[in-house]
Amino acid sequence: MTKKVDDYRLKLGKHELVPIMIGGMGVDISTADLALEAARLGGVGHISDAMLPTVSDRRYDTGFVKEKLQQYKANIDNSDKTLVKFDLGHIAESTRLHVSNTMERKRGPGMVFINVMEKLTMNSPRDTLRVRLHEAMSAGIDGITLAAGLHLGSFGLMEDHPRFRDVKLGIIVSSLRALQLFLRKNVKTNRLPDYIVVEGPLAGGHLGFGMDWAQYDLRTINNEIIQYLRAEKLDIPVIPAGGIFTGGDAVGFLQEGSAAVQVATRFTVSKECGLPADVQQEYFKASEDDIEVNGTSPTGYPMRMLKSSPSIGSGIRPGCESYGYLLDANGRCDYIEAYNREVAAHPNDKKVIVMDKTCLCTHMRNFKCWTCGHLTYRLKDTTRKAADGTYQSLSAEHIFKDYQFSTGNKIALPD
Ligand SMILES: Cc1cc2nc3c(=O)[nH]c(=O)nc-3n(C[C@H](O)[C@H](O)[C@H](O)COP(=O)(O)O)c2cc1C
Repeated sequence: MTKKVDDYRLKLGKHELVPIMIGGMGVDISTADLALEAARLGGVGHISDAMLPTVSDRRYDTGFVKEKLQQYKANIDNSDKTLVKFDLGHIAESTRLHVSNTMERKRGPGMVFINVMEKLTMNSPRDTLRVRLHEAMSAGIDGITLAAGLHLGSFGLMEDHPRFRDVKLGIIVSSLRALQLFLRKNVKTNRLPDYIVVEGPLAGGHLGFGMDWAQYDLRTINNEIIQYLRAEKLDIPVIPAGGIFTGGDAVGFLQEGSAAVQVATRFTVSKECGLPADVQQEYFKASEDDIEVNGTSPTGYPMRMLKSSPSIGSGIRPGCESYGYLLDANGRCDYIEAYNREVAAHPNDKKVIVMDKTCLCTHMRNFKCWTCGHLTYRLKDTTRKAADGTYQSLSAEHIFKDYQFSTGNKIALPD
């Protein structure tokens, strides 16, 4: 008989879950509503901890961004951003608000995790990451997925929290080497990850590969990691991600020993997703040629996005006094340098164009950087098109159940 995803379960401690995890999508693209649907249906959903002070202003009526801008206004024209620090109390409160509001609304047998990116260095990497991790645990999150970075010190930062051994902790890796490094560095905490997400080169967001991403293949890396863990007698669930578009794709991975799948792109066009409806139409319309991996992210990681993203070429003034999430430990960001270079080269222009880097904080916050998975060009095949050319948006439940119950590579269209 043809297998479906629902024939399998993901075991995390005493929890038995539908083996579908919706991946974290930063800056509130994977909303609480989306994550809560996954949990209600018995799977795992993610909220994201990216830029929570501004998310909190939008959702919970706080004024963190205004306060930060007020404090550092005098620095706006200064290219040196060393002084522009986050208030750790604001980070703590915004995390607490987002996590506790989400967890209070949780219904059903599934779980809600938070995606925490190490690359959000926030002009003080250790202190800010520590506060984000601690507050998420204190506010009752079910699990934390460590993303965008090697996270060699992150378990150490959490070790003294009372929930360190109770909250589910996972790491996203894109190679066996990164996993081995993580495991080796964390031996002293005497705590293994509860799950490992293996993210391949077709994923959305930042990639854990260089610009030669096309030479890598998720299945190969995933199998290598499964075999390594077996050989080491480490019983840790492995969860592949990136380009798993149908229930049939997912079953293929489950049959080969994966414990679940992490998916995201299919949900970018769900009603519960944070992307505005007009942006969702751009995702639906995209053809394969409209999608690229480029180096415009100042993090240094390649990032996949629609070529029509308004962020590309935009030469806005760096928004660090309001945001500043990508300032490194020395208060630097590659966008500031690219911007200053263009301003110096065109001193008389009112508006500059910056092609090589983007002010990612501002553009992600405003949904102007249209990051997406490689298979975004297939989204149009997952819905119906109206006579006026618009595509029908889908409920997260519809997409989730399509992954869960479909067989082969069939995709159920909405009613
Ligand atoms: C719009 C979008 C935003 C994303 N943002 C993040 C992020 O903030 N952090 C992260 O670890 N992964 C991020 N990802 C990656 C997903 O969590 C997921 O692992 C991956 O996209 C799964 O592949 P799929 O999109 O082909 O299903 C993002 C993906 C998309 C599509």
